[in-house]
Amino acid sequence: MTENSPAIVDADVGFRLIPEQASAHAAEVDHLYYALMGLSGVLVLVLVGLIVGFTWRYHHHSRRPRGPAVAERTSHRIEIVFACGLLLFFFGVFAWAGQLYLQLYRDSPADLTINVVGKQWMWKVYHPDGTREINTLHAPIGERIRLRLTSEDVIHSLSVPALRLKRDAVPGMYTSAYFTASKAGEYRLFCAEFCGDAHSRMRGRVILMPPDDYQAWLRRNGSEAGPAEEGKALFSSYGCSGCHRTAPQAPAPALDGIYGRVVPLADGSTLVADEAYLHDAIVAPQKHVVAGFQPIMPSYAGQISESEIIQLIAYLRSLKAGDWRRESATEAE
Ligand code: CUA
Repeated sequence: MTENSPAIVDADVGFRLIPEQASAHAAEVDHLYYALMGLSGVLVLVLVGLIVGFTWRYHHHSRRPRGPAVAERTSHRIEIVFACGLLLFFFGVFAWAGQLYLQLYRDSPADLTINVVGKQWMWKVYHPDGTREINTLHAPIGERIRLRLTSEDVIHSLSVPALRLKRDAVPGMYTSAYFTASKAGEYRLFCAEFCGDAHSRMRGRVILMPPDDYQAWLRRNGSEAGPAEEGKALFSSYGCSGCHRTAPQAPAPALDGIYGRVVPLADGSTLVADEAYLHDAIVAPQKHVVAGFQPIMPSYAGQISESEIIQLIAYLRSLKAGDWRRESATEAE
């Protein structure tokens, strides 16, 4: 390994009892795992020890004094202390695991969002600049990365043991998983949900590299047009631009600056236009009808792929308020 050739080594070959630790939270996940194993081990030993001990001590022919039956005793202090103590203790374990879980899976800001779409039987990966790959996932180390997952067909589950990450990819919705990679190298990626007869072949590699190398990799592999450009082409080829325009009598709302905006709905409620909303608006438009418009938009479910939806959303995100007017004006010319 020299200084200018990064160490892309397959650190993940052969049998290992515990996978390589390649993310910032891997050690904490392992501590939790060891603690749970240790606790379970201690409890099993205590319980089995008591069962065997009492069986021996009070077996049928034993002449040991048996004392009064439990029912005759009046104090339950031991039982109460034991039950409450254990309960509190395990709530503590729950809180420990819960905060770790939220850290990994609750929506929060990230430096970089990479879209991952599961499909029988492959993983498609979309980087923010439009670079795509299949069954490999390149990512920079030291940055907080969000994987935004969805599926084209059935439920898959993205599992990267070295990152201590596992999250379902569910059709029709976006789920997120977060990690900060800490160690460059090549690691394994699996589908961890039985999803059909080629499930076991739905695996690939995660390649973690220093940020500069990641940028260089993007430059080498990047697509000509960014996802927003591709989304713009889809926006007209699917006919979206026919209704979503700024004309006063337009049948559908104009979409300039839509991303992150508060949208008033026909039922009087409001919501913020995020990825999940825009996704629903395309595949299940009747779910949230915008105030002041008729529910005339057809569903594009089954006609448009998840990758195209990612590109459309990238296009919608790129539309700042005001851009729209200019673009519609140029198109009309
Ligand atoms: Cu996809 Cu198993």
